[in-house]
Amino acid sequence: MKKIFQIVTIICLTLSFLSCKNSEKSDTNLKDEVANPTEKKDLKEEVPQPDPATAKSIAAGESVYTQNCAVCHQKNGGGVPNLNPPLKGADYALGDKKPLINLLLKGSSEVPIKVNGQTYSNVMPSFSSLDDAQIANVLTYIRNSFSNNASAVEVSTVKEIRSTSD
Ligand code: HEC
Repeated sequence: MKKIFQIVTIICLTLSFLSCKNSEKSDTNLKDEVANPTEKKDLKEEVPQPDPATAKSIAAGESVYTQNCAVCHQKNGGGVPNLNPPLKGADYALGDKKPLINLLLKGSSEVPIKVNGQTYSNVMPSFSSLDDAQIANVLTYIRNSFSNNASAVEVSTVKEIRSTSD
């Protein structure tokens, strides 16, 4: 009788040990899933990082912007009501590169101008004194700042448009 009791105890202990091991195993699996959630990984990959050349151009463009543009369009790209339009979310800044490059080379005295129902009466000066790289960089900067996200402007495109514009 004593022997049977011993055997039952051993079986019980073995069973509880095994189930304990199993639950430990599923615990670690769970921990692994929390530490490496595949969804989080995918989300991270969705935010595109600019390629190194674009990142360099954005950085160089920032100082061109601070020195030449921020006085009117403001550091945050928000513009000044009634005077200078915002660059944040501006279709013109994010759209076709040719008219954008031409605007910088020639300026615009087409005033007052209406953007999104608002009137701006200041004059956009010509920046033809900036070199091709400075223009490409500052445009790449405004297209990738203030929550804007558009393709980079190449130096060669600025060069081409400067040489063909009258
Ligand atoms: C003296 C103030 C002033 C400065 C400095 C200035 N801008 Fe402007 N900018 C304006 C005004 C005013 C307009 C709108 C006038 C127009 O398009 O006829 C404008 C328009 C623009 C637009 C078109 C926006 C739209 O939605 O139509 C872009 C892009 C732009 N500027 C970029 C720049 C960049 C880049 C610089 C610096 C290299 C710069 N501006 C410097 C006043 C300025």
